[in-house]
Amino acid sequence: MKKRTGKRYESVTDITQTEHIKMVKEIFTTITEKYDFLNHFLSFGRDIVWRRFTASKMNFIQNRRYLDVATGTADLAIEVARKYPQTNIIALDFVRDMMNVGRHKSHKYDFSKRIKFLQGDALKLPFSDYSFDVVGIAFGIRNITDRARALREMKRVLVNGGQCMVLEMNFPRNSLFRGMYNLYLNHILPYLARHFSQNPAAYHYLADSIIHFPSPAEFMNIMKEAGFTNIERHSLTMGITCLYIGSKPDNGG
Ligand SMILES: C[S@@+](CC[C@H](N)C(=O)[O-])C[C@H]1O[C@@H](n2cnc3c(N)ncnc32)[C@H](O)[C@@H]1O
Repeated sequence: MKKRTGKRYESVTDITQTEHIKMVKEIFTTITEKYDFLNHFLSFGRDIVWRRFTASKMNFIQNRRYLDVATGTADLAIEVARKYPQTNIIALDFVRDMMNVGRHKSHKYDFSKRIKFLQGDALKLPFSDYSFDVVGIAFGIRNITDRARALREMKRVLVNGGQCMVLEMNFPRNSLFRGMYNLYLNHILPYLARHFSQNPAAYHYLADSIIHFPSPAEFMNIMKEAGFTNIERHSLTMGITCLYIGSKPDNGG
């Protein structure tokens, strides 16, 4: 990564890995209370549909254990608990304040016994190999600089034949749509964020991190290099979000 030249944050490409991690922690500690509202509002409610679609693609083949990495306020973990009543779920994030919101919702929906929250780092998952049937990460991989390492960790903790699900925003390459989306990400979204959030810089970061995320083909290649097979991509809402699914090989890979 390039070194930052000035004091002010300009782009995810201009900061070191350590600065990036620090900034991600700060952002998610300060937007906690408004996170769910802004998520639904800024995506016009599509985020709910995207997580539901992700859950619908899951297969629990052995132990019915699901790990939700970078769980945030636990919306995907809750969706999985709702759809698969036999599952047990670990929801992991390195920002405790985000998980506190998730814990509160999980309690409200009566999932406290099935969803356990754990503070931890996606780059060093605190589980032994072959612990989960499915591991998922929704809108989290973009915030992790060492994506290959996070994917290798997710693969390590999966059972053989287990599934890795990555739901992530995408910057469409189609020129007309790209122009409109650029306008939304760089002008409308920061404008709305200024009105609703105490931390509008978080939404500058959101736009910036989406624009700099690898293309679907590049990301699928990163998954392949991490050892996943049968990699699928599902393009959602005109390609602004993608669900990537990879399998851990039956022989462990
Ligand atoms: C955009 S939120 C996504 C939350 C949730 N999965 C969702 O669907 O809304 C990203 C989350 O990733 C977490 N995160 C980023 N890097 C992480 C890491 N290395 N380990 C654990 N959590 C991380 C942040 O703390 C934040 O809660």
